Amino acid sequence: MRKEVPTYRKKGLFGRMKALFRNPLNFSAEVRQELGDFAKVDLGFRTIYLVSNPAAIKHILQTNNKRYGKSPAYEQLKLALGNGLVTSKGDFWRKQRRLAQPSFHKKRLEELFAGMVEETSKYLERLEARKDRESPTDICEEMAKITATIVLRTLFSADNKANLKLLYETINEAQEYVLYRTNYPFLIPFCYLNGRHRKFKKQLKVFDDIIYEIINQRKESTEQPADLLSMLLRARDEETGEGMSDQQLRDEVITLFVAGHETSANALSWAWYALAKNPAVKMKLRAEIAAVLGDRMPSFDDLKALPYTKQVLAETMRLYPPAWVVGRESLAADEINGWPIQKKEIFLLNIHALHRHPDFWEDPERFDPERFAVENVKTMSRQSYLPFGSGPRMCIGNHFAMMEMQLLLATLVRKFDFTLSDGHTVTGVPLIVYKPKGGIPVHITGVQS
Ligand code: HEM
Repeated sequence: MRKEVPTYRKKGLFGRMKALFRNPLNFSAEVRQELGDFAKVDLGFRTIYLVSNPAAIKHILQTNNKRYGKSPAYEQLKLALGNGLVTSKGDFWRKQRRLAQPSFHKKRLEELFAGMVEETSKYLERLEARKDRESPTDICEEMAKITATIVLRTLFSADNKANLKLLYETINEAQEYVLYRTNYPFLIPFCYLNGRHRKFKKQLKVFDDIIYEIINQRKESTEQPADLLSMLLRARDEETGEGMSDQQLRDEVITLFVAGHETSANALSWAWYALAKNPAVKMKLRAEIAAVLGDRMPSFDDLKALPYTKQVLAETMRLYPPAWVVGRESLAADEINGWPIQKKEIFLLNIHALHRHPDFWEDPERFDPERFAVENVKTMSRQSYLPFGSGPRMCIGNHFAMMEMQLLLATLVRKFDFTLSDGHTVTGVPLIVYKPKGGIPVHITGVQS
């Protein structure tokens, strides 16, 4: 039976727009409280659906995914990422996904793991030097640096360290501009007048030059290190035998870098925050690591023997999902759970709210890794936990991310304590990823044995 979609009509048109752009998470919470987990908001130029209903999310991302494409916000990302896996569509995306998928199979990840361990060992030494300082360290900045180092290492091995540093800095600056355009689309015309767009174009040229140089050098070299670039260079389409063009390689490499480091960095930052707030969890985590690893660095196979480490990460991403929202647009008329849907409507699938949905999570605000213990996962509603998305566009790097985060969490927690700095309240802010506003200042000390 057809139902009417609950519609939010308060605040006036501009008030609704302002509230949504200012803090989409707070505005969604307000709408949900009043109208439930499937509601729409009229913004004049568009109708936006705010969705945290698991059945509706499953319908959009999985069961009926062909009727829903990526939302227009992804077009802004194209400015920097080009036509890579995150932003491309249709047959082109399908072909690229087929080409890239084998690089993320277990065997390939095992090859990448050695480089991750090497970078982590170097990082542990650097962190050792930061111990016992009086001034606080922003753990978010630290996690951003180490995850960027790891993803650059797994993409390009050791090719030209100075260039990789420049690449990292330029991408970060360029990303700020893309984020600005995504959050304030109505201010885009000013960027063409005040020089901001021109500056961005220059940054784009810097990182394009670096990446094309790396690609060319690699093509000419007889050595093919075990990294993602070699894997992507070797990838051939099963049907046509074709590989990727240089431009395509550039787009995929930038996409993997951007998609693959801020997400993991923020998940880890939130994990340190949650552990600082929950000392009993930290003790249990250390006990598992001491029993399985002692003082040695983990091997790829050890990761399976660290289930509690995984549970801590899973629970962290429940409460603080880095990809807090997934955007879609309806490509045709449809019906979801009896609700009529028109073509060209926007859907904000609110993963943050889904993960705290009171119908599916008991005491949802409580941090409790036991929710993800094997015996509890059996009875968990799978559709109410989607940190890596779902359906054909699900994250290609989910196993990569889990192995990197397990490695970093396990090796850092046994050596260091991160104590939250007094006088700073940690709150989340929903940018492209869900981040702690103003970072998380901590004091780093060694673990007392
Ligand atoms: C904690 C870490 C991560 C989280 C929470 C995360 C989350 C997500 C989510 C929710 C999506 C789906 C977006 C959508 O449906 O619109 C996605 C897609 C994607 N992610 Fe991740 N991701 C993480 C780490 C990574 C890593 C490490 C990589 C690569 C090294 C990566 C590469 C990608 C790519 C390429 C896509 C697009 C896939 C496609 O559309 O075919 N991600 N990610």
